[in-house]
Amino acid sequence: MPDTFDVVVIGAGPGGYIAAIRAAQLGFSTACVDDWTRDGGKPAPGGTCTNVGCIPSKALLQSSENFEHAGHGFAQHGIDVKGLSIDVGRMLARKDKVVAQNNDGILFLLKKNKVAFHHGRASFAGKADSGWTIRVEGAAPATLTAKQVIVATGSTPRALPGAPFDNVRILDNAGALAIPAVPKRLGVVGAGVIGLEMGSVWRRLGAEVTVLEALPAFLGAADEAVAKEAQKAFAKQGLAIHTGVKITAVKSGKAEVTVEWTDDKGAAQKTTVDRLIVSIGRVPNTAGLGADVAGLKLDERGFVLVDGECRTNLPGVWAVGDVVRGPMLAHKAEEEGVAVAERIAGQRPHVDFNAIPWVIYTAPEIAWVGKTERDLKAEGVDYRVGSFPFSANGRARAMGETTGFVKILADAATDRVLGMHAIGPMASELIAEGVMAMEFGASSEDIARICHAHPTLSEATKEAALAVAKRTLNL
Ligand code: FAD
Ligand code: NAI
Repeated sequence: MPDTFDVVVIGAGPGGYIAAIRAAQLGFSTACVDDWTRDGGKPAPGGTCTNVGCIPSKALLQSSENFEHAGHGFAQHGIDVKGLSIDVGRMLARKDKVVAQNNDGILFLLKKNKVAFHHGRASFAGKADSGWTIRVEGAAPATLTAKQVIVATGSTPRALPGAPFDNVRILDNAGALAIPAVPKRLGVVGAGVIGLEMGSVWRRLGAEVTVLEALPAFLGAADEAVAKEAQKAFAKQGLAIHTGVKITAVKSGKAEVTVEWTDDKGAAQKTTVDRLIVSIGRVPNTAGLGADVAGLKLDERGFVLVDGECRTNLPGVWAVGDVVRGPMLAHKAEEEGVAVAERIAGQRPHVDFNAIPWVIYTAPEIAWVGKTERDLKAEGVDYRVGSFPFSANGRARAMGETTGFVKILADAATDRVLGMHAIGPMASELIAEGVMAMEFGASSEDIARICHAHPTLSEATKEAALAVAKRTLNL
């Protein structure tokens, strides 16, 4: 006999487990199926984000930043460190512990909210009287039926043609997070978010890092001034970034990998490295889902086709997160998951795609929300700009972290905040103020009139807002 639920969620990444919790909170009997497995065969809910994405990358970014500070930052504070070394094994073990804590935390949350968790692989088996039949394969096979199904199966890394991942020499994100010893020479293909974050980790620990990016512009999605500042900072740190590159061949040997490429002038180049991270984007994960059995429509790139409210072409079937259009970000997946659960309950939630923050956790950190100047110019919107450097911010000076700035873009006629862009210390935290301002339809004057604690980095945001009206107080 199948187990019958109101809602079955396939995938327990940030999109899936959050959707399941919200559905259960709203009074639905809910099951969540996820196949991620950790050592010993135990379930590891949390998806890419928890297991090989957001969480482990931030753990390694923290460890490597601590190492960098001890080696290069402490001296200015009068702290001399002698005999500094890094035990990569211990660093990786700490990262694994942080991941396991998150896996256990999610299992606890699912249980607390009375979500029935099934560890295994789910696929559509066809229609049931009351909705859909989902087959679960794994250690405890099961058949579930539900009126509402939420597909949250995430994404997987995209390989370079002719250079499959082996996670020994050619690494995907999982491999990049588990290199057992600092490579002398590390290559990175793709100067996107993963390339910059993982390149930074291993560069700080001593690797010579070469990044090869296909596009002519560095960080093309970011504000141009931010991208320029970032490129300058990364070059100073020793990340060798080449843009406008075309990879012509990747030859993987026993001990090294050789990448053949042409540079932005068309000249042939060759780079030999000990390990090569390939971070050229990700592809939606619908393998084995039985999309064809159910008649679930995918687009030409394999994303589940959804409308603006995450409805698929099938009644009662929804899809959220990386497996659908839009940015591949954990918080975007979560917002969609919550919204779908609430729609099933007859509520009318809204996810504002214009106010989804982007963060790159390098040093300096990079964060933005809303429009760039490029966007506004293209849309013909008349806007004003206010910018404030961290070099003029007291807290940043006290921290010794004065690279970067905060920039606010406001509508020239209404002063409404249209975008915020930050590069510098704790930009990841500062951006929340910009998101809040945009969600509340605030003006730059609203931010400028709010009392910000002194001395804090957030005063740079206030000053950037003041700068929109050309009335900074500290510059
Ligand atoms: P996923 O997290 O991919 O989860 C999908 C889950 O479904 C997986 O557990 C998968 O095994 C399971 N599954 C798939 N098919 C089935 C099936 N048929 N049956 C059962 N289970 C199935 N985003 C941020 O916002 N901030 C960051 O700092 C950040 N850092 C990242 C760093 C790296 C290295 C990477 C790779 C990604 C990072 N991301 C970050 C992106 C983020 O991880 C994803 O956007 C997010 O995980 C997407 O969530 P999701 O729920 O859609 O899918
Ligand atoms: P990405 O889309 O951020 O960057 C990929 C880069 O590779 C692009 O700059 C692209 O131009 C380049 N590229 C593509 N094909 C290439 C080729 N053949 N040769 C050279 N360069 C090539 O993708 P990435 O870094 O793989 O990350 C995947 C997703 O994971 C991101 O879109 C992001 O949403 C998410 N992520 C988010 C993080 C965060 O929020 N801090 C951290 C890491 C990942």
